[in-house]
Amino acid sequence: MANSFRNNANQDPLSNPEQKKIIDAIIVNNKDRPGATMVVLNEIQSEIGFISESVQHYVAAELKIPASVVHGVVTFYSFFTTTPRGKHTIKFCMGTACYVGGTPQLLEKAKQVLGIEPGETTEDGMITIELCRCVGACSQAPVLTVDEEVYGRMRPNKFPKIIHSLQEKDKEEMVAA
Ligand code: FES
Repeated sequence: MANSFRNNANQDPLSNPEQKKIIDAIIVNNKDRPGATMVVLNEIQSEIGFISESVQHYVAAELKIPASVVHGVVTFYSFFTTTPRGKHTIKFCMGTACYVGGTPQLLEKAKQVLGIEPGETTEDGMITIELCRCVGACSQAPVLTVDEEVYGRMRPNKFPKIIHSLQEKDKEEMVAA
């Protein structure tokens, strides 16, 4: 399984006429509001699904603010992503209990199995991995979440099984559809 996934290539929403139209409308409708940067970025994230580097520069130019400000906001808040999220999102808890309990080893295994870094999505668009803060299940550290489901007392050798069961579930859904 190790090499069955590769990093997802960045797609540029600005070269997609439909997406560019949506982005322009969001900017025009919100640019004079207080807190316009946050409002515009929020809407782009929810309408387009991610805020690429080129979109960050475009928003900065349109709002007449430095690109570094936009970049700072996008990287500070974890609900913003710079590449499209996959069908499933796996988050690794970086809270103290989980970190001490083995999240770094778990993350290493995930990177090795999926071939991506946190914040990236597999080439087939199936899985995004992210880091997150404490999810309130510290007694089960280390913890990861798959979509909304919490998996506690995780060990690196259990990770491939999780990926396998996600793939099986997706196959079943496709057959049932
Ligand atoms: S530190 Fe991970 S759930 Fe609390």
